[in-house]
Amino acid sequence: MTISPKNQGRTGRLAGRNIGIDRVEDRIRAEGGDRTTKVALITGGSRGLGATLAAFLAAQDYDVILDARDERALRETARAVEHYGTRVIPIAGNVAEAHHRRRLVAAAEDLGRLDLLVNNASQLGPTPLPPLIDYPLDALDEVLAVNVVAPLALMQEALPLLEATGGQIVNVSSDAAIGGYPGWGGYGASKAALDLISLTLANELRGRGVSVVSVDPGDMRTRMHQAAFPGEDISDRPLPETTIPFWAWFLARDRSEVSGHRFQAQAEVWDRPLGVRQ
Ligand SMILES: NC(=O)c1ccc[n+]([C@@H]2O[C@H](COP(=O)([O-])OP(=O)(O)OC[C@H]3O[C@@H](n4cnc5c(N)ncnc54)[C@H](OP(=O)(O)O)[C@@H]3O)[C@@H](O)[C@H]2O)c1
Repeated sequence: MTISPKNQGRTGRLAGRNIGIDRVEDRIRAEGGDRTTKVALITGGSRGLGATLAAFLAAQDYDVILDARDERALRETARAVEHYGTRVIPIAGNVAEAHHRRRLVAAAEDLGRLDLLVNNASQLGPTPLPPLIDYPLDALDEVLAVNVVAPLALMQEALPLLEATGGQIVNVSSDAAIGGYPGWGGYGASKAALDLISLTLANELRGRGVSVVSVDPGDMRTRMHQAAFPGEDISDRPLPETTIPFWAWFLARDRSEVSGHRFQAQAEVWDRPLGVRQ
């Protein structure tokens, strides 16, 4: 990940420093308890799209809470994102585990607010991608636990914080959710389920001021994409940074107006109704 340290050296805030959750409340008190900086929680923030989004949001002045299972990689990314001068809180763990999700939401509680939850962490499942008829069912359980149950559980847990800010939930989807591509059935089914969860929650939460959308980021040159095409040269796929114009446009939209939409971050038209093929 390439991050230009736009705000490096900024004074009067917590430029370039990581802080543990246990010290956050002291910092808030020291700043007069006035929490106006927006807070984003991004799962799967150690690499790929999650890391790119973390850097982008930090550059937009968001404090960010990040997770991933590999603690070392997560801390390295967090250190890079800190260069933007906002607070970066890395919490290592598996999003499929309830106690880890509680820690993520507790970190936002300690920061005093949550404006944006991005359910980005995802499992591709076994590779080479098996035909659905041969799909190992224990592996399917794991894919569904990480890609469907965990995002829903995190949305449930984070809802009070999101209601308080009129916040937004972004569930990261995939074209595999609607493609029916051979081999992609397990992962694709999980993303189709996540899309329906997004749309249903958008309708259910409309009166509670919380917006829910799906975003299909498009093909990106990441570890997950390489795993889907083992041994293949994927250098023609763009890096996740290619989606940044979309994110900049998306964050400027009226949250209540976009709730229930499904976006395609690399399509010619970013905003298309759910289920409509390109
Ligand atoms: N790349 C593409 O072409 C593409 C296309 C369409 C959609 N997407 C979607 O875009 C999102 C990001 O994918 P990516 O390509 O950026 O993948 P990636 O580079 O493999 O990154 C995945 C991130 O999620 C974390 N993660 C995975 N399982 C986790 C778990 N159980 N708990 C916590 N963190 C976990 C990983 O860290 P650890 O491994 O250390 O946990 C890593 O930080 C996913 O939702 C994916 O389905 C990707």
